[in-house]
Amino acid sequence: MKIDILTLFPEMFDNFLTTSIIGRAIDKKKVDIKIHNIRDYSLDKHKRVDDYAYGGGSGMVLMPEPVKRAIDSVKDNDSLVILLTPQGSPYSQAKALSLAKVKHLILVCGHYEGFDERIRYFVDLEISIGDYVLTGGELPSMVITDSIVRLLDGVINEDSYKFDSFSDNLLDYPVYTHPLVFEGYEVPEVLTSGNHEKIAKWRKEQQIKRTKERRPDILEKS
Ligand code: ADE
Repeated sequence: MKIDILTLFPEMFDNFLTTSIIGRAIDKKKVDIKIHNIRDYSLDKHKRVDDYAYGGGSGMVLMPEPVKRAIDSVKDNDSLVILLTPQGSPYSQAKALSLAKVKHLILVCGHYEGFDERIRYFVDLEISIGDYVLTGGELPSMVITDSIVRLLDGVINEDSYKFDSFSDNLLDYPVYTHPLVFEGYEVPEVLTSGNHEKIAKWRKEQQIKRTKERRPDILEKS
């Protein structure tokens, strides 16, 4: 899989691309991720990418030309172009699973006070990672990339995500490690019983109980 990220702040991705599972996935060639600076696609001699809003209003607006040129420089027949914006459709694990099947993603990070409305004509999909407003699409594009890359074949052990929260509209079950007793809190007995059937049943029950308590809204879909 290939992911191209278009941003005005490439340096924000430095640690993201070299650390932990994402860093390893890139090293193992499970995914090819490239960061592109939208400013490089400005035709202005001062490399300007934003300007005042027609009609007035506070703040600068990202111009359509450098964004369109940046998209065109990486786009091919397999590409899906996604714009990160709080006005997009809500992101979910189901969406991560479907995007993980796409050959080539282009993630466009909006920034400043806003972007020219005409940018919307050149994207296939708009995604929001939640009902709050961030200073730009950089963190959302990292969230989306992270959630997708961990689902790619050979990146993490399949068992690690088979029972992920949300995978079957249920939250994850609780897990424990050493010590057996910590500050008076014990590991549930069933987990040390060695009875795998019983353990699987207990885990499923815990998933349902947790989801009922914490997210009854998603249990209805289950
Ligand atoms: N850009 C700013 N806020 C955002 C959000 N919540 N989701 C996606 N992109 C954004």
